[in-house]
Amino acid sequence: MTAHRAHKNSTDHTPCARPKRLAVLLSGGGRTLANLQHCIDAHELDASIKLVIASRQCPGVQRARMLGLHTRVLPGDIPRDTLVQLLAEQEIDWIILAGYARLLPIPPGYENRVVNIHPSLLPNFGGPGMHGMRVHEAALAAGVKVSGCTVHLCDNEYDTGPIVLQRVCPVLEGDTAETLAQRVFELEKEAYPAALSMLFSGQVAVDGPNVRMIKG
Ligand code: GRF
Repeated sequence: MTAHRAHKNSTDHTPCARPKRLAVLLSGGGRTLANLQHCIDAHELDASIKLVIASRQCPGVQRARMLGLHTRVLPGDIPRDTLVQLLAEQEIDWIILAGYARLLPIPPGYENRVVNIHPSLLPNFGGPGMHGMRVHEAALAAGVKVSGCTVHLCDNEYDTGPIVLQRVCPVLEGDTAETLAQRVFELEKEAYPAALSMLFSGQVAVDGPNVRMIKG
């Protein structure tokens, strides 16, 4: 496991420029996983998915296996020792939440190296129970005129932690939760790899609740 900081406060903790080794955690359809693998294959993201952990049998597990990824199904909360061992075995640099429905306590050594994407403009419409269509139903019920997605570093709560990047789209007349979800997911496909590239290259630094660009 790498431990050296390349830059004070920088999000890049690795001493040399090898592709980042990712663990992707999921509980659902696996579209986010598939998109990240697509971006890696297209050389748009300098990373390699070394481990997929699913909290249940779900379409994302089939997708991961079809992609030939090393995949484990660990129902419920992952025992801390099990997680620490899996991360060490695969020399994981970053943990990427991709529709993971459980709360993941940050493993030791992974502070500011666990990332999540949420399909709303946090801090709106996040928190326990806010997943899937519920997020978009809540946005429509609140009458917001814009929605979007948020990529953030994780802390030990649901959908909080320093925001890395947000993307915005309109909420249109006649939207249903499904049409809004589809529009937001199109943003997610671009936002997650863009945010991860910023983090992996150490272009940003975490300063309390703020993620700031490092001036060159
Ligand atoms: C995405 O909308 C993401 O924002 C949220 O969970 C969803 C995952 O979808 N965290 P999928 O399982 O990748 O299809």
